[in-house]
Amino acid sequence: QSKSRITAIGTYVPERILSNADLEKMVETSDEWIVQRTGMRERRIAAPDQFVSDLAIRAVRDMVDRYGVTVQDVDMILVATSTPEYSFPSTASRVQSKLGITSTGALDLNAACAGFVYALQMADGLISGGAYNKILVIGAETLSKITDYTDRTTCVLFGDGAGAVLLERDEDSPSIAASISGTFGEGGIHLYKTALSEQMDGAELKSGCLVQNGREIYKWAIRNIPEGVRTLLSKGGMTADEVDWFVPHSANLRMIEAINERGPFSMNRTLTSVEYRGNTSAASIPLALQLAVDEGRLKAGDHVLLYGFGGGMTYAGSIVKW
Ligand code: ACO
Repeated sequence: QSKSRITAIGTYVPERILSNADLEKMVETSDEWIVQRTGMRERRIAAPDQFVSDLAIRAVRDMVDRYGVTVQDVDMILVATSTPEYSFPSTASRVQSKLGITSTGALDLNAACAGFVYALQMADGLISGGAYNKILVIGAETLSKITDYTDRTTCVLFGDGAGAVLLERDEDSPSIAASISGTFGEGGIHLYKTALSEQMDGAELKSGCLVQNGREIYKWAIRNIPEGVRTLLSKGGMTADEVDWFVPHSANLRMIEAINERGPFSMNRTLTSVEYRGNTSAASIPLALQLAVDEGRLKAGDHVLLYGFGGGMTYAGSIVKW
């Protein structure tokens, strides 16, 4: 039984825009190909001296400005990222120090593009179990720093950004109605970035930048996500009609359309950040939520079904009352 509620959200994206026209000058591609295959028009790219903790604190400051909340008394900072600036110290520790929060736990969590939903589930568990009262949950990425801008099959997809939410104890009106997660580790080879090893299950890996087998991910996502969404709805005792918005990870608009053709939601009840932000991995779901709040589409009391999926390959979904 959940005992926590999301009380505030904030986001940040870097100023520099990387458009499809810019990409046409860098690799052999076209605006038409990119829009047709991915639905993407622009992405934001961090400055050379801007790292993931810088984006994360800007998202937190945006949240504080919008909602007038304080983060100085949080018990825990949880950052979901697969592009930390250091192996350690954690990004969360950098966020703690840069925000001058004097007493809080801090740790990073890596579940690639599913990271934000996993972090939300962990934070809800820590509050609902009685350990803590207030947790700062952040999804932040600088994928541009691990993208190979000579590889047209990946460089058109990824962007940078950050989103933060505040989760607070609320036993009367909790946010999280139901959660699921699952993993297909055998598919890890289809999306990776090496660190200390250059082999996986006996196969040689390419070191350096992010490597992706887009076709395999596409097939896995289309095959598994509609079923996962139905499982989550049934666990929450809800029908798709009782959920106002579906918020899948913004990996690729065409892929989301294909998921919806097989799943219970229509595109006009789906929120994404993909068109002008690209695939921002752990940041994509809070970016989509914030856009919908700003556009007046997502309102207090709405039910949203969040569904993160990606490298691992792993997924996590939660039904949340906004
Ligand atoms: N511009 C022009 N042509 C291109 C480009 C490009 N940017 N990229 C690939 N092509 C070419 C290929 O070389 C290929 O040419 P060929 O037939 O002569 O060999 C052709 O287009 C088709 O390539 P496919 O890879 O089959 O294209 P597909 O339709 O599968 O689209 C894409 C590729 C967009 C990457 C798609 O597979 C996809 O979106 N997959 C899912 C990726 C994803 O979501 N990843 C992230 C999930 S988890 C996370 O977010 C980290």
